[in-house]
Amino acid sequence: MTARSLDRLERLRSELAHPRLDVRIVAADLAAGGAAQILRAVAGGEIEVGLLINNAGFGAGGDFTAARLDRQLSLLDVNLRALVELTHPILGAMRRRGSGAIINVASVAGFQPAPYSACYAASKAFVLSFSLALWRENRDTGVQVMALCPGYTDTHFFAAAGVPKPRRVYMQTPDAVVAAALRGLRRRQPLVIPGWPNRLVVAATRLLPRRWVLNAAARLFRVRRELSG
Ligand SMILES: NC(=O)c1ccc[n+]([C@@H]2O[C@H](COP(=O)([O-])OP(=O)(O)OC[C@H]3O[C@@H](n4cnc5c(N)ncnc54)[C@H](OP(=O)(O)O)[C@@H]3O)[C@@H](O)[C@H]2O)c1
Repeated sequence: MTARSLDRLERLRSELAHPRLDVRIVAADLAAGGAAQILRAVAGGEIEVGLLINNAGFGAGGDFTAARLDRQLSLLDVNLRALVELTHPILGAMRRRGSGAIINVASVAGFQPAPYSACYAASKAFVLSFSLALWRENRDTGVQVMALCPGYTDTHFFAAAGVPKPRRVYMQTPDAVVAAALRGLRRRQPLVIPGWPNRLVVAATRLLPRRWVLNAAARLFRVRRELSG
């Protein structure tokens, strides 16, 4: 398991304690060379990765020119550059063994541009496209690649992005998202969008005229930024 916060990783390791589990943790910042650090820990511990879950990510919004450029660049480093850096050698090792799976966490935000969250939605569009392409490239190799596209999920995501947690909208629990992902993995699905309301929104964004979708997304994301002050 890996993240920046060593204390939270250690807490989680104690919660997961089980005689048949050997939980190793690596505190690494994916915006600052953390992917290489994780790969060194995997190679050094002679760990065979059976399932890689590229989950780390964050959102940062606002009018693009007003938002801090360094934060937008860190977002790209974490949400997509580190994901590619981790996927390349680990997928290669899975291919040589002929088994393994990768879950890349994208978002429903990856299906359309999001004015006032432009880099975030674009990063998730990259993850979605990249993962589906890799699913097809690896279809007959025994290795599975999946894009997981959750909608609003009750996590620290909103606090980390500095926006209020949405209320009175469809919000899933992390457990529901994980259950849908594991079900999708068993069925060898290339794409999992947990929850029918999220699937409905994605279908609508593909059917409606692009300008309408952009206007609706602009209203949604601008209001959320304004609420955050
Ligand atoms: N919550 C939603 O509504 C929602 C919807 C669609 C997609 N997603 C996606 O779901 C994924 C998980 O997010 P979440 O909702 O669970 O949010 P979260 O509670 O904020 O979790 C984000 C995770 O990423 C790690 N992380 C963030 N920056 C990092 C960095 N620089 N280096 C290493 N690790 C880093 C965090 O750990 P540390 O802070 O300790 O580093 C944390 O474990 C993200 O990719 C997000 O885009 C979330």
